[in-house]
Amino acid sequence: MSTTSITRTDPAHMKEPIVPSTRAETQSFNSARRNPLALDESVAAASIDSLNQLLADTMTLRDLYKKHHWQVSGPTFYMLHLLFDKHFGEQAELVDLLAERVQTLGGVAIAMAPDVAETTSIPRAPKGREDATTQIKRLLQAHEMILLEARAMARDTAAAEDVGTNDIIVSNVIRTNELEVWFLAEHLQ
Ligand SMILES: [Fe+2]
Repeated sequence: MSTTSITRTDPAHMKEPIVPSTRAETQSFNSARRNPLALDESVAAASIDSLNQLLADTMTLRDLYKKHHWQVSGPTFYMLHLLFDKHFGEQAELVDLLAERVQTLGGVAIAMAPDVAETTSIPRAPKGREDATTQIKRLLQAHEMILLEARAMARDTAAAEDVGTNDIIVSNVIRTNELEVWFLAEHLQ
């Protein structure tokens, strides 16, 4: 081994390591900027709160689909492997819609896994593998929790006249989740 070679522990090639400043936060999580949306501040704040809860739960469901896509087994392996990935993609689209609605309303979207884990109300899945029926039941449970939450949000946002958020909740979140529930539930008949 040459004496000039760089190893992983050799700091010589890191003369000025880049360290992000901890004081560089430009908007704290629990604050809202006022965007000119002709929307009452308290209405926006309430929507931001519920959207972040729904976002954390949707991210958890999205990741649950990928876990099950990888870990599924049994005679229906290939079909479920494909179905779980299709739903993963649809949930990923919902995640982006919800997060960007939070930002549109002036809030800060939940983004990172530790924050999602702290916030979600969906029960934690085991690290190990589960059989296909248990996987489907676990997914159905998560969908139903999200649908319950989304319907409450649909009512609240309609009453508060935040129709932009209401449209995302009804047209995207509720309809996508209901359709995915149908595709899952038929496996248990
Ligand atoms: Fe894959």
